[in-house]
Amino acid sequence: MYFRAGTVSALLLASTLPTALGQHVRDLGSEKWTLSGQALNQTVPAKFPSQAHLDLLNAGVIDDPYHGLNDFNLRWIAESNWTYTSDPIEGLLANYDSTWLVFDGLDTFATISLCGHSIASTDNQFRQYAFDVSEVLGDCDSNPVVSINFGSAPNIVDAIAQDPNSQKWPPGVQITYEYPNRWFMRKEQSDFGWDWGPAFSPAGPWKPAYIVQLEKTEDIYVLNTDLDIYRRGQINYLPPDQTQPWVVNASIDFLGYLPSNPSLSIEVTDIESGTVLTSRTLDNLTTSDTSITGLTVLDDLTPKLWWPRGMGNQTLYNVAITVKDTNNKNQSVAHVTKRTGFRTIFLNQRNITDSQRAQGIAPGANWHFEVNGHEFYAKGSNLIPPDCFWPRVTEERMTQLFNAVVAGNQNMLRVWSSGAYLPDFMYDLADEMGILLWSEFQFSDALYPSDDAFLANVAQEIVYNVRRVNHHPSLALWAGGNEIEVLMLLLVQLADPADYSYYVGEYEKMYISLFLPLVYENTRSISYSPSSTTNGYLSVDLSAPIPMAERYDNTTAGSYYADTDHYNYDAAVAFDYGSYPVGRFANEFGFHSMPSLQTWQQAVDPDDLSFNSSVIMLRNHHDPAGGLMTDNYANSSIGMGEMTMAVESYYPIPSKSDPVANFSAWCHATQIFQADMYKAQIQFYRRGSGMPERQLGSLYWQLEDIWQAPSWAGIEYGGRWKVLHHVAKDIYQPVIISPFWNYTTGLLDVYVTSDLWESASGSVNLTWLDLAGNPISDNAGTPTSADFAVGGLNTTKIYGTSVASLGFSDAENAVLLLSLQADGKVPNSEESTVFTHENYVTVAFPKDLDIGDPGLTVEFDDEEEEFVVQATDAVALYTWLDYPDGVVGYFEENAFVLAPGEEKRVGFVVQNDSTDGDWVDGVTVRSLWDQKVRD
Ligand SMILES: *[C@@H]1O[C@H](CO)[C@@H](O)[C@H](O)[C@H]1NC(C)=O
Ligand SMILES: *[C@@H]1O[C@H](CO)[C@@H](O)[C@H](O)[C@H]1NC(C)=O
Ligand SMILES: *[C@@H]1O[C@H](CO)[C@@H](O)[C@H](O)[C@H]1NC(C)=O
Ligand SMILES: *[C@@H]1O[C@H](CO)[C@@H](O)[C@H](O)[C@H]1NC(C)=O
Ligand SMILES: *[C@@H]1O[C@H](CO)[C@@H](O)[C@H](O)[C@H]1NC(C)=O
Ligand SMILES: *[C@@H]1O[C@H](CO)[C@@H](O)[C@H](O)[C@H]1NC(C)=O
Repeated sequence: MYFRAGTVSALLLASTLPTALGQHVRDLGSEKWTLSGQALNQTVPAKFPSQAHLDLLNAGVIDDPYHGLNDFNLRWIAESNWTYTSDPIEGLLANYDSTWLVFDGLDTFATISLCGHSIASTDNQFRQYAFDVSEVLGDCDSNPVVSINFGSAPNIVDAIAQDPNSQKWPPGVQITYEYPNRWFMRKEQSDFGWDWGPAFSPAGPWKPAYIVQLEKTEDIYVLNTDLDIYRRGQINYLPPDQTQPWVVNASIDFLGYLPSNPSLSIEVTDIESGTVLTSRTLDNLTTSDTSITGLTVLDDLTPKLWWPRGMGNQTLYNVAITVKDTNNKNQSVAHVTKRTGFRTIFLNQRNITDSQRAQGIAPGANWHFEVNGHEFYAKGSNLIPPDCFWPRVTEERMTQLFNAVVAGNQNMLRVWSSGAYLPDFMYDLADEMGILLWSEFQFSDALYPSDDAFLANVAQEIVYNVRRVNHHPSLALWAGGNEIEVLMLLLVQLADPADYSYYVGEYEKMYISLFLPLVYENTRSISYSPSSTTNGYLSVDLSAPIPMAERYDNTTAGSYYADTDHYNYDAAVAFDYGSYPVGRFANEFGFHSMPSLQTWQQAVDPDDLSFNSSVIMLRNHHDPAGGLMTDNYANSSIGMGEMTMAVESYYPIPSKSDPVANFSAWCHATQIFQADMYKAQIQFYRRGSGMPERQLGSLYWQLEDIWQAPSWAGIEYGGRWKVLHHVAKDIYQPVIISPFWNYTTGLLDVYVTSDLWESASGSVNLTWLDLAGNPISDNAGTPTSADFAVGGLNTTKIYGTSVASLGFSDAENAVLLLSLQADGKVPNSEESTVFTHENYVTVAFPKDLDIGDPGLTVEFDDEEEEFVVQATDAVALYTWLDYPDGVVGYFEENAFVLAPGEEKRVGFVVQNDSTDGDWVDGVTVRSLWDQKVRD
């Protein structure tokens, strides 16, 4: 009974630790830890939070997991158990009422012991766990040691799969990347490999943990807080009434015992001004053994609204929530502050109304977001896990990434399942920057077990995470999973048509009957969709056993219903508008490309820097190996071939004599193709805002990379922008001019598209040049300018012709430069703004163009801190500024067209510089010409 005995020194020490009102909270991250494992035969120092790979790397036991083929070489780590052991923990309270071990995240199959006594086993990476260890601690006869043994996830799920009683699915349905059987675990699914990432299956205490000691009975420790702000009467699936007052509902999950007469109060403070908006006690108090909840209606108060980027301010408020003991002078027994914002965000999936029909919108259903009652165009991309090892994902790195999102004119990210639920600091950044986060439960490209134990485990995970992040105004949606309805049910139908309706029932049981009420019970402010991508729903009836009736294939030609995804690796149709899906919202589309030479060099030895070297090929996981083989050349060559064919179909084929320069040119060529293809689709989808489909969103696949490899990303691992992120930045500007050259019909149309909320007007210039930069006579019969007006969230055609009727014979030697100037109002602003945009089109593919050497030069203007780029001799297409290693950042403009005599001044935003400014001398410029010439 060492602890009960108590000592003065222990108590003194305790008082120097963070305590709150009799609570004694010990961050286990401040203890000393070691890592050991049967595969290692030694013990190394460990961090906490951490994962075994990171500690082995720090200890010098392994090389960089991202280097070369370590994806394969380090499998012994995934296939071993790992134990994290603390030093004896000194200075715990002697006089405590109860002691708890609280884990914010254990990855994944963990067995916890304290003082050599087994405490518990866990099996869900996404849950928070709290264990009462009062008794064990009381029996400890020395300073306690915490030990956490992590089982090998690949081995454990294999054992589950081999159990004759475990659930089985029809062959050909479940999708395996590297390690099989991921659907049996509640662990980041991409830890077992994905088509853009490796399979390290890390293990460890990936989030913080605490020892919590409560000194007296009426003392509680806050585990989780659910702050829900909504308009009075709001129901998740219906548009909120913006005239209603705000309701603030606060709910605290705790450890310990509430006082017999508790009260709950809030103080709401405008962070910018420091003004207290209101301070009051909450009504309608309900309590249980583990939570306390109350609400208040902010009648007569009009907090400033939070808006996404580009639509207004990101006004944030602090809501301080206090639990008080009314029997004891209203003493505070718990206190927590959440930073939040006042906004409604609604996914409108309702049927198209008559008045929408009268506006020319095609029948079917809506599928778009509304913020504070306003439709808007969602521009963005899909976020994958930014690293295989979450403990090294720092706020600094994510700030850099989200700055690139904002610089890229994106207002929404889809937080794809199946990575991990994002940490709060990422939602915090998104709140500040105005980036909406469409969030998902972690289920993807598989069918999952439907036994009671699995569902009960998942239910805990969902409730915890829905409550944890609900206060963030950036939270835009909960979706049940990725490609479950659109892909998995389709695969089931093909594999096992006789049992299709059974599997539909299984799908509805989990993603609708179970998940939907869990969402609605814990938030009234967020909409729910059972799966990304779907055909939407027919109706919602909360009293029905299946509260949402999905539409599935119950569709009518000529109607549009929901969101689309689009992948077509046949390069022949990459620019064929007829091959793009027409729908209400594009939530995934893309084509992979290579990262740049500089990024490859971080991970690959010099000898391996060639397009089809074995290391490069084996780091390309599209198509995936589908298992653990380490010679996936057959499937990898499909993906490598797709990139090669795409380049060869449309662009000059690099053939440099220097092998590294040739490799670099090839990597760049794949990026140019990728960017052009995304640009074509984004323009097409955005134009749809003014077409019968009333298309209101495009989120391309994918924002960023998890490691250095071929993928769909626009931002490489480490932060370097591909051509794609620059081109997307350009084409996501609010008012754009877009050419649509339909090479199958020979028609060329030019549209102006705006996602402002009010109409904008201005003029455009259309200028035909030959590729030497000379004007084409009579501007090829095209008017040199035109005035236009474009409605809010709308498009207008300003010019149309057939290429054959243009006044030139040599389509290979012509480029149409487009420039726009418009007056319009940014949503929620008073004054009007001048918008400009430039674009261009050629009516032959780049490989067929008669391009000449533009004689590009780049100089650094120290005074203005800008790079001055000029083309001296001919039109430069895809003018590309490149920067050396040692600095991370982005040019404010890149991949542009430059006519001879034109001077372009481009700034560079430094995000990280380890060269002391010397990088400036390493900046180079190239263009399509350099892709074509041999040296
Ligand atoms: C483990 O280490 C001990 C002592 O260093 C050594 O005798 C033993 O052979 C090692 N075992 C293995 C499996 O490497
Ligand atoms: C490895 O972990 C599993 C699962 O937690 C456990 O059953 C097993 O006993 C562990 N083995 C060792 C050697 O620690
Ligand atoms: C709160 O309680 C009052 C009085 O019992 C009741 O009229 C009101 O509907 C409750 N509000 C909510 C949102 O439950
Ligand atoms: C946004 O914030 C700025 C600076 O605080 C303020 O001047 C402006 O009025 C705000 N706009 C709105 C619409 O509240
Ligand atoms: C929406 O329209 C479908 C027909 O497409 C109909 O079955 C359904 O009941 C409608 N839903 C609502 C909520 O009116
Ligand atoms: C399609 O919808 C209609 C009416 O809304 C309904 O009667 C029918 O059962 C649905 N069919 C399917 C396959 O869901």
